[in-house]
Amino acid sequence: MDHITAVILAAGAGTRMKSKLPKVLHPVCGKPMIEHVIDVTKKYAQKTIAVIGHKGDQVKKAIENRGVDFSWQMEQLGTGHAIMQAEGLIEDKGKVLVLCGDTPLISEETIQNLIDFHQKNNFHGTILTAEFENPKGYGRIIRDQNENVLRIVEQKDATQEEQKVKEVNSGMYCFDAKLLKQALKLITNNNEQKEYYITDVIEILKKQGHKVGAYIVKDKMDIMGVNSKVQLSEAERVMRERILIKHMEEGVTIIDPSHTYIEKDVKIGKDTVIYPGAIVKGNTQIDEDCMIGHNSRIENSIIHTGVQIQSSTIIDSFVDEYCTIGPYAYLRPKSNLGKKVKIGDFVEVKNSTISDGSKASHLAYIGDAEVGKNVNIGCGVVFVNYDGKNKYKTIIEDNAFIGSNTNLVAPVVVREKGYIATGSTITKEVPKGALSVAREKQKNIPGWVERKGLL
Ligand code: UD1
Ligand code: CA
Repeated sequence: MDHITAVILAAGAGTRMKSKLPKVLHPVCGKPMIEHVIDVTKKYAQKTIAVIGHKGDQVKKAIENRGVDFSWQMEQLGTGHAIMQAEGLIEDKGKVLVLCGDTPLISEETIQNLIDFHQKNNFHGTILTAEFENPKGYGRIIRDQNENVLRIVEQKDATQEEQKVKEVNSGMYCFDAKLLKQALKLITNNNEQKEYYITDVIEILKKQGHKVGAYIVKDKMDIMGVNSKVQLSEAERVMRERILIKHMEEGVTIIDPSHTYIEKDVKIGKDTVIYPGAIVKGNTQIDEDCMIGHNSRIENSIIHTGVQIQSSTIIDSFVDEYCTIGPYAYLRPKSNLGKKVKIGDFVEVKNSTISDGSKASHLAYIGDAEVGKNVNIGCGVVFVNYDGKNKYKTIIEDNAFIGSNTNLVAPVVVREKGYIATGSTITKEVPKGALSVAREKQKNIPGWVERKGLL
């Protein structure tokens, strides 16, 4: 395969978004638009260059870790002018893919088809196009009577006759690098918008006797540019559907796709069932045979086989096989559950490891703890980890029993098979196998109510 340089145009202002956020940083399915485009270029290009300008610092910061080079376009004098800014970074060899930062639905398949079409036909410049019922606003593809591409004409420069053409320019192209660089030197801003158009390169190449062509996209949505919040929601819907279809085709059961939100990088195993209202984000991995109950939110977490989750929130956590979570449990960052752990209703866990077979069935707070195997944490137990200034750790060894409504005042250790009586406030180590009672003895005062005349 030839050397490929990708250039992503992202310097425009995006005025119609009416937002403080630069257009290309608006997220679609949880990821900035431009990152979706970068995901695709990374598949094909040895080098990716982003042309930035409007709020460029912010754009640069957001994608700096994606291994792209940057070119600055200080004044937005047109798409051709934008590419000229990247010229120094474009190598003479191979091909150049030109893409836009605001087309998040562009797929790997379409880019592959564009490159293949370009190569198979020995073209020197190939436009990615689509046929639109309503082509208004787009550049039109002008072909001769033999269907050969001649040039692209912008809406504003088009004659009445040309405006009737339904084949539109996506703004994405594949060029031979050397010829593109030569042609860029020849484009002028002699047009309606007084801009340097990349589209002029096609006509220049053609006139120089080189071969140009157009590849018509299969799924029109691939080239949809997002210019407004309405189009942003449309892109979100399309991408969401594509993601859900992919999972269903691979064996995931999604009860109601219109109410399920799964981000692009999430992985889900076969026969996992996802109920309505589930939101699964980031780098989450869910294995086979899990149940993700309604209104659950899972972010950047690993969930192993057979886990049952009901209406719960899980963030930056690890859940091993066959755990049951919820309803209404909250696993905050760094919760690390072993196999067959039960975290029941209204239990909050944070920065804690809970080993195989342990249970906290209801109403507890477990923070900064190391909990061993087969530990029972009763209803209403609080791991008192914070003194207003510092956080402290609690260690509970295997097979311990923490009675209901216990306060474990950290730092504190409960040794193996330690048994804490209900309602205790534990401030000292509980030895192995000991019963620990840390509460006032009950005292009954006979006749007290009547003497006081209370009832
Ligand atoms: C462009 C094409 C048009 C095509 C349409 C598809 C030209 C002249 N026209 O028109 O044929 O149908 O895209 O959406 O190329 N940009 C810069 N610097 C600039 C100008 C633009 O980086 O100086 C970037 C924008 O941020 C955007 C992309 O280039 O990502 C396209 O720019 P835009 O102004 O939207 O081009 P259109 O007028 O829509
Ligand atoms: Ca546009």
